[in-house]
Amino acid sequence: MVKTRGLAYHGEVAGSAVRKGTTMSERSETLADDPFSGRQPTSHERMTGRPWDASYHDGPAPWDIGRPQPVMVRLAAEGGFAGAVLDVGCGTGDNALHVASLGFPVLGVDVAETALAIAREKAADRGIAAEFAVADAFHLERLGRRFETVLDCGMFHTCDGDERPAYAASLASVTEHGGTLYVLCFSDEGPETGPHPVSREELRAAFNPGAGWNVAAIESARVQTTFHDNGAPAWFATIKRV
Ligand SMILES: C[S@@+](CC[C@H](N)C(=O)[O-])C[C@H]1O[C@@H](n2cnc3c(N)ncnc32)[C@H](O)[C@@H]1O
Repeated sequence: MVKTRGLAYHGEVAGSAVRKGTTMSERSETLADDPFSGRQPTSHERMTGRPWDASYHDGPAPWDIGRPQPVMVRLAAEGGFAGAVLDVGCGTGDNALHVASLGFPVLGVDVAETALAIAREKAADRGIAAEFAVADAFHLERLGRRFETVLDCGMFHTCDGDERPAYAASLASVTEHGGTLYVLCFSDEGPETGPHPVSREELRAAFNPGAGWNVAAIESARVQTTFHDNGAPAWFATIKRV
């Protein structure tokens, strides 16, 4: 059953309460001046009329389930991670923290500073060493770093068709040749698809050999949300950097 909280994906106005432990008050002046910190608003932000950061102001966002996605837990248990790991659009960090807890060096990046503050607080509370930094997923080359494993849990499906080539190029710029990108996104295989359903063909088109990618596998999966009882239909893609 889909619960109404899911409407938050499409941007109902959030209240002003800030989750305990965040430093929103410190950031509010900067965010009020320019909520996008000088970057181009994403298609999702244009559609909803508010910055990603606002999704984290009023309690857990609908994708913020407070634990790692089961697909990621299984992947880690099966040895799917290697080397330095980048989590793009990491949100409040549960996936990144799970991987870091296994001993991998992990950087989580996001444009939502409130989410990053929560992620850092979780890392401190759990005694897990993980790095969290503000970075634009469309300009990851600015990090000046490369990663053997890159994780996208719910970021790709927020991109519209016009944004996908730039996003794939940005990911390619930070992924070691021979490295692996994992994408967990809503799929178009109903019923009760998530708010940004993506087809297999769209995944293959975005991560094509001309863009430096080879899609190794696309599996049917579930992505857990706070408003689906048993998760929403998803694709779990394993994509190699060529
Ligand atoms: C659907 S949420 C998923 C968050 C997290 N991966 C999870 O599974 O809980 C998408 C995340 O991508 C972030 N995001 C969206 N556009 C971004 C961009 N251009 N650069 C970096 N992060 C972005 C949002 O702030 C949000 O935290």
